[in-house]
This record gives sequence, C-alpha cells and structure tokens, in this order.
Amino acid sequence: MVNLLKHPLLTHKLTILRRKETATNEFRETLKEISGLMAYEITRDLPVKNITVETPLGPCCTQELAIDIVLVPVLRAGLGMVDGISGLIPGARIGHIGIYRDHETLKPITYYSKFPENLSGSIVMVLDPMLATGGSSSDAIKVLKDHGAKNIKLVCIIGAPEGIDRITRDHPDVQIFIAGLDERLNDSGYIVPGLGDAGDRLFGTK
Ligand code: PRP
Ligand code: URA
Repeated sequence: MVNLLKHPLLTHKLTILRRKETATNEFRETLKEISGLMAYEITRDLPVKNITVETPLGPCCTQELAIDIVLVPVLRAGLGMVDGISGLIPGARIGHIGIYRDHETLKPITYYSKFPENLSGSIVMVLDPMLATGGSSSDAIKVLKDHGAKNIKLVCIIGAPEGIDRITRDHPDVQIFIAGLDERLNDSGYIVPGLGDAGDRLFGTK
C-alpha cells in the first residue's frame, strides 16, 4: 500500500530539497526536518498499552508505545533521515545496510549490513530518500526479511512510478510512505524532476 503524504510544510521543504542552489548544510537540515514531519504519519498505527503514572496531582491512566522500533537507513542517503525520526522515537534501535547502484546496469550492490537482534517482533522502518528503479529498497527489504523482519515499512522522500511498482510487486506486504511522487526516470535512472543525487547533495561529495 502506498501512502502519499500531503502537507503544506512537507511540500515547502521538498521544494527546498529540489532547488539546485540549496547548499549541503541546508539540504541536510531540511531532509532531517522532512523525516521528522513524516514520522507523525508513519507512526500513526503503532500499538500502545495502558499504564498508570503519577502526576503531581495523583494517578493518571494513560498509554505508552508497546512495540520495538528499528530504523534501517540505506547508506548513504538514508543516514540523513535517521535523526529526524529517532528524535521523536528515542527508544528506536538502529541497523544499517550499505547499498549502491552500479552506474552501468543500475543494479543494486549490497556491501554492508548490521542489524539489531530479534527483528521478528519489531516494526522495521527502511529509510531511503530516493525510490528510483526500486532495486535498492527492494533488496534492503529482502535482506531484512531474511534476517527475520516481519513487519516492514518503507519510508522514502521522492519516488518514481517504476519504484512504486517494483516494491508493490516484490513486497506487497510492505507499506510505502512517500512525500513526493514524480513523473519518470531518465536514461541514467535518475528521478525527473527529482532532486539529483541524494547522497552527493547530503554529503557534499560533488
Ligand atoms: C541512491 C539512493 C538510493 C538508490 C535509489 O543511492 O540513495 O539508495 O540510489 O535508486 P534505485 O531505486 O534505482 O535503487 P546510490 O546508488 O547513489 O548510493 P550512494 O548514496 O551510496 O551514493
Ligand atoms: N538516486 C538518487 O540519489 N537520485 C535519483 O534521482 C535516483 C537515484
């Protein structure tokens, strides 16, 4: 299922990311802010449990989160989404998966993975700003499933129809959250109009 998130603040901040003049420091800060705003929707259906706490005036029957959350950024660009979400879910555990696309074939190559233990009872959020062909996110989800993850959400900033189709086909059980759905991919596999190379813009490598 695809959740296209719409909010004036998200649209405004997405415009900042897209603008080619936006410098690395502003890109980084804005990506963090967008991820934090998206966290509100991504976490809407999290389970809670009843608890009682003492306020200064006496007991209060209330609720707290009742599920373990694991964030898994896809290196590199997914790293820019971690702080915005973990700032709102400080108890989240964090795994990492390193994947890059081969420039010729556009096929994803996984070069690193390290996850917290016992993923089967957790909600696992895969973070990757760009959903282009969908190959990187699809492979990341597969690796996580092979490690026992059963409840996976994919959180992206901008996607192309090809990427949405790929995830829907490969992983129909995975909910996709995305802030912008663009027109198409160009011949080099970049999202048009998109925002360019997310990793390079986040880390200033070009
Ligand atoms: C980018 C981006 C995604 C991937 C999306 O990573 O951050 O992970 O491409 O493309 P796809 O949907 O077609 O797989 P990139 O290959 O540039 O790696 P890098 O961030 O490490 O440079
Ligand atoms: N990866 C990016 O960083 N940008 C794109 O448009 C496609 C893949």
